[in-house]
Amino acid sequence: MFAGVPIGSNHKQREKFAVRTFAGPDAYRDSLDHVRVVHLTDMHVGRVTPMEAQMAAVELANAAKPDFVAITGDFVCHSQKFLDALRAVISEIRAPVFAVLGNHDHWSGAPEVRSALVRAGAEVLDNAVTTFTVRGQRLQILGLDDAYTGHADRERARKMLDPNVPSIGLSHIAEEADGLWNYGVPLVLSGHTHAGQITVAKLHELAIGRVAGHKYVHGLYGSRASDLGRGAVYVGAGVGAAVMPLRIGDRGKREVTIFELGMNGHVEIEHHDSQPPLPGRKPTEELTAKRHQKVLRLRDKRESKGPRR
Ligand SMILES: [Fe+2]
Repeated sequence: MFAGVPIGSNHKQREKFAVRTFAGPDAYRDSLDHVRVVHLTDMHVGRVTPMEAQMAAVELANAAKPDFVAITGDFVCHSQKFLDALRAVISEIRAPVFAVLGNHDHWSGAPEVRSALVRAGAEVLDNAVTTFTVRGQRLQILGLDDAYTGHADRERARKMLDPNVPSIGLSHIAEEADGLWNYGVPLVLSGHTHAGQITVAKLHELAIGRVAGHKYVHGLYGSRASDLGRGAVYVGAGVGAAVMPLRIGDRGKREVTIFELGMNGHVEIEHHDSQPPLPGRKPTEELTAKRHQKVLRLRDKRESKGPRR
């Protein structure tokens, strides 16, 4: 049994996933000898996403035999009711797990989500850098807290970076990548958009790009060449959903992404090219402050109801 789901019962769910593979930026070729990262995002463990889908994501991640798994936020939906299930899901990952939080984690209670992840064996990076060693090679993992709710602090994180050690960035919100590239982080993994979930007729670009103001909607953006001050960002389509279960169109499928860092030559199958960013619209300070206030309001509401049973 896995998180209440019998093992082997989820092959149909695995078929609903896209497993996409990409080579890392050229910058890693001189510093790393093939480090494999599996990227998951927006698991949203809860009522909307079947546990079989969570289990399928973990099985696909484990099957890739990664050196580590990076998960970029939104572990829950709107409450703390599924923290035990979250813990069970993350505990099944057979590789070191590094995580950053998303807006839904802050809305639901960041300390509690963080604690569930740590108890499951994950390392949660809140504007922090950790150094991961694999086969004698060191790689810095920089994790930003959620920018949507105003918790990201790039300056704090950058102070911990050693410029002589290669690095990778994790951020729920992909637009933070622009700033991280300037600090010499050549690849940032992100989530949040769910690829729009409905990707037929470019509806996702309309909803996530034009309406929500994101530059990066789904997939690979930026440059993997060794250009100073530039880099790449990958926006994963995610595993789950918090509100609407629909996922329509190939680009909107649930997703597990594999990045092969430091590989010489290119990965045989790449599922799409790097894309130009949309114009985007940076949130105003006022809007970010409002989003931050919402987190505090929800926390006060929870506290007024007493501890979770
Ligand atoms: Fe999400």
